[in-house]
Amino acid sequence: DGDVYKYYADGEWKKSTSGKSVAIINPTTRKPQYKVQACSQEEVNKVMDSAKSAQKSWAKTPLWKRAELLHKAAAILKEHKAAIAECLVKEIAKPAKDAVTEVVRSGDLVSYCAEEGVRILGEGKFLVSDSFPGNERTKYCLTSKIPLGVILAIPPFNYPVNLAVSKIAPALIAGNSIVLKPPTQGAVAALHMVHCFHLAGFPKGLISCVTGKGSEIGDFLTMHPGVNCISFTGGDTGIAISKKSGMIPLQMELGGKDACIVLEDADLDLVAANIIKGGFSYSGQRCTAVKVVLVMESVADALVEKVKAKVAKLSVGPPEDDSDITPVVSESSANFIEGLVNDAKEKDMRIAWEEPFGPVLPVIRINSVEEGIHHCNASNFGLQGCVFTKDINKAIMISDAMESGTVQINSAPARGPDHFPFQGIKDSGIGSQGITNSINMMTKVKTTVINLP
Ligand code: G3P
Repeated sequence: DGDVYKYYADGEWKKSTSGKSVAIINPTTRKPQYKVQACSQEEVNKVMDSAKSAQKSWAKTPLWKRAELLHKAAAILKEHKAAIAECLVKEIAKPAKDAVTEVVRSGDLVSYCAEEGVRILGEGKFLVSDSFPGNERTKYCLTSKIPLGVILAIPPFNYPVNLAVSKIAPALIAGNSIVLKPPTQGAVAALHMVHCFHLAGFPKGLISCVTGKGSEIGDFLTMHPGVNCISFTGGDTGIAISKKSGMIPLQMELGGKDACIVLEDADLDLVAANIIKGGFSYSGQRCTAVKVVLVMESVADALVEKVKAKVAKLSVGPPEDDSDITPVVSESSANFIEGLVNDAKEKDMRIAWEEPFGPVLPVIRINSVEEGIHHCNASNFGLQGCVFTKDINKAIMISDAMESGTVQINSAPARGPDHFPFQGIKDSGIGSQGITNSINMMTKVKTTVINLP
């Protein structure tokens, strides 16, 4: 069946023996666009075995050689940007220009990771014993960072390429192997990205990409004894994974309800521009989208006026035309978003607390900064937030008070630049990402102690 994209294992493209496939629906045409293999549990077992043995020799491959291969993959990825971007347009309805940006950003991320990795991992520590009471200077302790083993990477549909390489590149530079399970919407873009790593010439089995139904291989992958670390970005599934996974490090980013707090002295044109960019780019389907505006009563009308004028100018249409608002990823997502809007009209206001992942944004008037902070902290999420004011002292005090992994002052929330730390508090996640933190997270400290006579 030549129509079904193959999965990637042992350095080869393979058909699943299950004989089954999974269809990818184009959100714009609502018709099947591509098909991918529905991998079986036995195939997952095989992939885990190869990942384990490939990792052993990869860990012994000199760091500079690992970096060299990553630089090569980054260059190939950029060469393939048009073809990969086309998949992103068809599979997840990402506007055409943003789709290209995602691939270029991913290439840059991979290169940066290679550079950062050789610096971080090229250094260890040397400790002496006589700083601790009761000890003579008779013990020398050498520390270095060693890989964890097999990393399971599960990126979400909204950045199937970028949020895949943000897991793959740190894992590889640190000497780990990778098993990638891409989201179904975005799987072909991810397979194409994996093809770039294949062309770069990584050893067989070091990188695998299995596709298929979550119901068949989802839990099987996340509970697999061969997995030494899970890096997951997505929704509530992450909470379930954290309960089921074994005693392994987890890196998780599970969404947010990013608040935008607007004070009386804010530059309202700047705020409005950032609310549009933060709330509506990629139709709001970003973990870091502005998801609730908390604005001081005295400037609320003026701000809403400006925002409404800009919303009216947003173009709605297909991603091929670079429309501002494109179809959301699935019909169930569209129904969920519509449900929130209807609920808000009936005045129950679930939308004040829930994450729509769509182009809809509630504005809540506040009478004090404390009220804004209270709303923000009452959320079960805590990914990012932003505050708009000209008073830097106030901005920093508000940032300190907000229970969010990152607070942006005078700009919309965003993950990038990709070397910045990126983390959520509460239900928004575990651990910290960003290039440096991910490399460190995907290693363990190993020490050797020399005991002198
Ligand atoms: O939704 C995923 C999250 O990582 C957002 O990234 O670059 O849109 O801020 P970004």
